[in-house]
Amino acid sequence: MRMNIFQKICDSHKLDWKEPELPIIPDQVLTPDATATPVFLQLEAIGIKKIKPFTVTYMDHNTLQVGFRNADDHRYLKAVAAKLGATYSKPGNGICHQVHLENFAKPGQILVGSDSHTPMAGAVGMLSIGAGGLDVASVMSGEPLFVKTPKVVGVKLEGKLPPWSAGKDVILYLLKLLSVKGGVGKIIEFFGPGVENLSISDRATICNMSAEMGATGCIFPSDGVTARFLKSFGRPDDWQALSGDDDAAYDETIKIDLGGIEPMIAVPHSPDNVKKVSEVEGVPLSQVGIGSCTNSSFKDLAVAAYVLDGKDVHPDVDLVISPGSRRTAMKIAESGYLQKLMAAGVRILENTCGPCNGVGQSPASSGNSLRTYNRNYKGRSGTLDASVYLASPETAAASALFGCITDPRKLGLYPGIPMPESFPDNSNMFILPAEDPENVEVVKGPNIQPMPLGSPLETRLECPVKLKAGDNITTDHILPGGAEMLSLRSNVPASVPYVFNRLDPDFAGRVDTLPKQWTIVGGDNFGQGSSREHAVMVPLLIGMKMVIAKSFARIFRQNLINFGAVPLVFQHPEDYDKIETDDRLVIDDAIHQLKTGKVKVTNQSKNFTFETVGNFTDREKELILQGGLLNYLRLKNI
Ligand code: F3S
Repeated sequence: MRMNIFQKICDSHKLDWKEPELPIIPDQVLTPDATATPVFLQLEAIGIKKIKPFTVTYMDHNTLQVGFRNADDHRYLKAVAAKLGATYSKPGNGICHQVHLENFAKPGQILVGSDSHTPMAGAVGMLSIGAGGLDVASVMSGEPLFVKTPKVVGVKLEGKLPPWSAGKDVILYLLKLLSVKGGVGKIIEFFGPGVENLSISDRATICNMSAEMGATGCIFPSDGVTARFLKSFGRPDDWQALSGDDDAAYDETIKIDLGGIEPMIAVPHSPDNVKKVSEVEGVPLSQVGIGSCTNSSFKDLAVAAYVLDGKDVHPDVDLVISPGSRRTAMKIAESGYLQKLMAAGVRILENTCGPCNGVGQSPASSGNSLRTYNRNYKGRSGTLDASVYLASPETAAASALFGCITDPRKLGLYPGIPMPESFPDNSNMFILPAEDPENVEVVKGPNIQPMPLGSPLETRLECPVKLKAGDNITTDHILPGGAEMLSLRSNVPASVPYVFNRLDPDFAGRVDTLPKQWTIVGGDNFGQGSSREHAVMVPLLIGMKMVIAKSFARIFRQNLINFGAVPLVFQHPEDYDKIETDDRLVIDDAIHQLKTGKVKVTNQSKNFTFETVGNFTDREKELILQGGLLNYLRLKNI
């Protein structure tokens, strides 16, 4: 049988892609600090003594140490990783996805990560899937990750990118085509003669931002470009050739002529709000950022250095650069590019997530910021009325030079960036699992609190609507990022004052008046964006039991189920319009109805009944009945 790459990886891992759900046992796991503390607390709660798959925990989001909280988290994670058998990546080693790509990602293997941008490792032919923290804890305990079998979208690439266009422009073009929900339930798989013309940096950017389409994963073939990349990072033996068969079948096919890709830009406030750079040229900028897991590779920083060589950053612009990894930063320094960047007036930040989710470098009030990052949701930068644009490093560097959004093609001859033959070693930035785990003392600081548990489903649900929201609500809307919030990721009760404050700034002030159980009503693609399960845990702690939406983002829906909350989808989307905040919703015979998968909900305030569907698997039903995955695993482990 002719197979695509996804099918080949399933086949080699004994997964039957014809089944509706895949029980995935990954080869590797990654978990960055912002989600890792709950992951390890959950592992401890389950009673796990030894992590099964190869796991790396990365200190990359919470590196700003204002006060003791982040330092306490890192101390806890370092010790618990050593004790339970995970590798610890020290703060300053870099952003999880870039470091994992450089050091561990392998063609043909499977990676699961507690971060939505985990698909980035697809750049080297690794099937990589983001999941909620509790799912990842479960996987680390040796359980499979259950994923609804995705459809495979084959994207055939032809030709070669023109000068000054990059992988970022390809993924922005796809986002314009497919939208922020166009990838839900799908793997995006690339093939065709144009693939060999894309560097691993370009492929990584594309795979990374497939998360912005809600895709389950994104994957490229492993070819000669992949071999050279792995060799340059000292891992030639990790390479193997991998591609789809010539006439492999795909559920859908899209063709892209790379030669026709122009510089693209996402304008405020959504990654799929995409235009050609030439259409928005001239918008004045006060800040430009090059970095984040999306565009912080050697090529990304080197091209900026070429553009700025011998010139000055525009006087009105702050240009901040955050390398994706220490190996990349050291190579940039060794190659002389760092000197060029600094001479031009660039501000060099630490090798971390940093401004990407509002940890530092928030723009000025009403400021315009152009970033090479992956998300431009309103307020994510830390400045609610800022306008954030997303574009390639080429466009970012050109714009920093001219002080306004600038089409990089006006810079003339494209330099061409030779990829280094080798990168410096960073093995001193990893701490391996302890050889004597029984002697490792795990200390929890006062900010590290137990995670909340869901409650078993009751026969009758009475859940008034306490929040009604629109389409494409992100987890940032539900619980924002930013330096202050990230320092509270280990303390769910302390996060309550921030819940929903991007949707309803007064919501947290009404928490004391909430009933024991209540519901959210949402539009399409509810819960898109970051995989943070805090967007479920915090509402859960204050009684949220059910979300009824027109549709859900994959990870958010799974997070709800993992904490015993009930995600239901309107059978008739027009019923959404008939419901208002404070309407009293009731589900009778909830346990039986849930088992059938079709749930009738009565709106007692408006005196009508509407139909919803759960589309639950048997396992999901069991999780909701028992009050979530943690309860389920604890019972199983006893
Ligand atoms: Fe970090 Fe932003 Fe990526 S928070 S993991 S750089 S999306």
